[in-house]
Amino acid sequence: MLLLLLLLEATLLQLASSSYHPFYNGFYYNHIMNDMGNGQDKDYFNGARLVVETSRDPVYSYSGANVTLPCHYRYEPDLGDKRKIRIKWSKIRDDYTKEQDVVVAIGKTNVAFGDFKGRAHIHRASQHEASLVISDVHLKDDGKYRCEVIDGLEDESDVVDLRLQGIVFPYQPPRGQYRLNFHEAEQVCQDQGAILANFNQLFQAWSEGLDWCNAGWLADGTVQYPIRLPRKPCGGVHLAPGIRSYGPRHRHLHRFDAFCFSSALRGEVFYLDRLAGMTLEEAKQSCQDAGAEIARVGHLYSAWKFLGLDRCSAGWLADGSVRYPIVKPRPNCGPSEPGVRSFGFPSKGRFGVFCYKER
Ligand SMILES: *[C@@H]1O[C@H](CO)[C@@H](O)[C@H](O)[C@H]1NC(C)=O
Repeated sequence: MLLLLLLLEATLLQLASSSYHPFYNGFYYNHIMNDMGNGQDKDYFNGARLVVETSRDPVYSYSGANVTLPCHYRYEPDLGDKRKIRIKWSKIRDDYTKEQDVVVAIGKTNVAFGDFKGRAHIHRASQHEASLVISDVHLKDDGKYRCEVIDGLEDESDVVDLRLQGIVFPYQPPRGQYRLNFHEAEQVCQDQGAILANFNQLFQAWSEGLDWCNAGWLADGTVQYPIRLPRKPCGGVHLAPGIRSYGPRHRHLHRFDAFCFSSALRGEVFYLDRLAGMTLEEAKQSCQDAGAEIARVGHLYSAWKFLGLDRCSAGWLADGSVRYPIVKPRPNCGPSEPGVRSFGFPSKGRFGVFCYKER
């Protein structure tokens, strides 16, 4: 029994450590086997083709949810009998260089890897199902996943896109424009309850109206910015609207702003004020007194976008900035487009505060 377990573990590890390799289609496979011309492995000589299918449409979820990425396989023609297969799910990185192992299964044994330990398993409710269940979805789970089924020598796969509901916001630290290298950009997003956005997320935000004339880091180490209205300081007037890219930049030496991605909220954001306003320290304290915490920038953007928070009064946030969210633009409440307005990082002054309370 122990030996069997060790063998199984060895196979699982081997399976998991194999990095990217080409996938055989049925034709190619037959071709190889004919070349080898030995016919010993009868199981794999029946001419049946293995087909693996996931969802063509992206699967949408949100931070903290449980999500199922569907995957099914079949043989053409149908072989009828129950065959021993292995299933491997991996996550394709943004830059397509390497795949990250998520979970591997042989029979009823599942092994999950890295950040997916304890959160991912393969769901096999029907005979030909190989779906992936991820619980307590994290922001960085967003992306493409490969479902791979291995039957002896045959190895087929398909890819499905997991997209998290969220919002992209540009971030500049108190010290001003273009102060962050890649690693600091990752950190400031995390401090705001967010992560660095990926290109898909920035593109989606652009298509929904984001226009920002400062270049910022994305998760893949490139630097880009979204322009709706072409203008001179933002790539010129002759360039069509779109995402302007500086391409990959040096992660230590080059400095830009950051594009952060924050999920839909699990809690609520509310505004508190006093007649005379508050300092930042008093603001933090009054959120705590209300059984909440001072909101982070990501919380305010999410509440604005997903909960329709609209408040024409400026409030402190955790990073020491002062902002307010406007859904319905009106006189004396900033520009004529909806958005989260910023007063920057006032060194003095008294304001209200936005608090965040988890549900
Ligand atoms: C996710 O699944 C776990 C266990 O399977 C369950 O305890 C939890 O409540 C689920 N979470 C949500 C948000 O449905």
